[in-house]
Amino acid sequence: MASSRIPGFYNLTLNDRLTQVVEAAGLSFSDVAAWQTGGLSLDAADHMIENVIGLHSLPLGIGLNFMVNGREVLVPMAVEEPSVVAGASFMAKLARAGGGFYTSSTEPLMIGQMQVVQVANLYEARLKIYEQKADLLAAADEIDPVLKRFGGGARDLEVRIVEDSPIGGFLVVHLVYDVRDAMGANAVNTACELLAPQVEAITGGKVHLRILSNLADRRIARARCTIPTSELAFGDFSGEQVRDGILAAWAFAAADPYRAATHNKGIMNGVDAVVIATGNDWRAIEAGAHAYAARSGRYTSLSTWGQDSAGNLVGTLEMPMAVGIVGGATKVHPAAKAAIKLMGVKTASELAEIIVAVGLAQNMAALRALATEGIQRGHMSLHARQVAIAAGASGDLIEKVAAQMVAEKTVRIDRAEALLQEYTHASDAAKA
Ligand code: MEV
Repeated sequence: MASSRIPGFYNLTLNDRLTQVVEAAGLSFSDVAAWQTGGLSLDAADHMIENVIGLHSLPLGIGLNFMVNGREVLVPMAVEEPSVVAGASFMAKLARAGGGFYTSSTEPLMIGQMQVVQVANLYEARLKIYEQKADLLAAADEIDPVLKRFGGGARDLEVRIVEDSPIGGFLVVHLVYDVRDAMGANAVNTACELLAPQVEAITGGKVHLRILSNLADRRIARARCTIPTSELAFGDFSGEQVRDGILAAWAFAAADPYRAATHNKGIMNGVDAVVIATGNDWRAIEAGAHAYAARSGRYTSLSTWGQDSAGNLVGTLEMPMAVGIVGGATKVHPAAKAAIKLMGVKTASELAEIIVAVGLAQNMAALRALATEGIQRGHMSLHARQVAIAAGASGDLIEKVAAQMVAEKTVRIDRAEALLQEYTHASDAAKA
């Protein structure tokens, strides 16, 4: 893969951008043809969910400048919100001065839960399960031979007691399963369902729910970056001012759940865009992220921002990342397959690490803007274009109406409609 830095990319035509991406990644046009059509045929869609009547599309942009563990990566991002792709790309450019993003991850371990009710003695039943742990794990390990062939399978079993609940006490058995390159929901749910009779026989209770937990805290991906302070300076802001502004913005999220929710939403802007582009389950990722952010009992920031001994800005992000590159939409959706190909990822862990790097870049983009000129300036021109389109503008008028609204600092549908009318009348009058 050539460099993920493609200067002037923004100003190219859509087709030229695609050409540059294909060339930089060493792909052919047939690899990415799906991106020009939305990717999914009606027939394929009809086989994916129920009651299908059509398709729903999102823009696909490219996150530029990403260097992850020394490797250049062009990142596909599917998102409807302006400024997300530009923000991540710009921060990835700043991060390059510090070597880019450094990432790591745990083994791809997912947790399946079995709720065991109607147990006479919870403490005794818990220990009885532990006594049979080796047999239970051996049985669970046989359940998915394909996963086993690829090095996955049952890894651990934990038993928790819920002393008090609206229905009284019960046991919760956690089956820890290595799902390798799958998202893992199917494998884990199947394993829990098949293991349940054995758990019932051991405990004398009844296994009620058997389902994966989206709090995938055994499947964590991590990213960090260092931005030299000098890189942070812009306009009237010194690098130190921007750095300290980012630190104070992070402190707000670290201390206050109301701010943390928005701060983490900014992280998820980047995370979800890649998760969606690769056909993964973004609801699972969202659920895991926010549950993880609240793991201490108080909801807080998923990221940290600080400085190193030289005063450079240092960011870190650690979060659950249950994504797969085999199975589900990742293999069925042609646009998702193209996305995986573009990034050249060979394992789900590699994909998870890139996603967390993008989340960290996105977080920094938001904090940098918020801590300096405010978020609206960058948002304004793209947002203005959307408002102009919503008001009925097309062709050259989109840019003209948008530019005028930005100049007036009034980006509103009524103003867009008025400007549109004004410009349309002016051009009609000129023609007459
Ligand atoms: C908007 O989609 C995301 C932000 O609100 C994130 C943040 O406030 O950190 C800008």
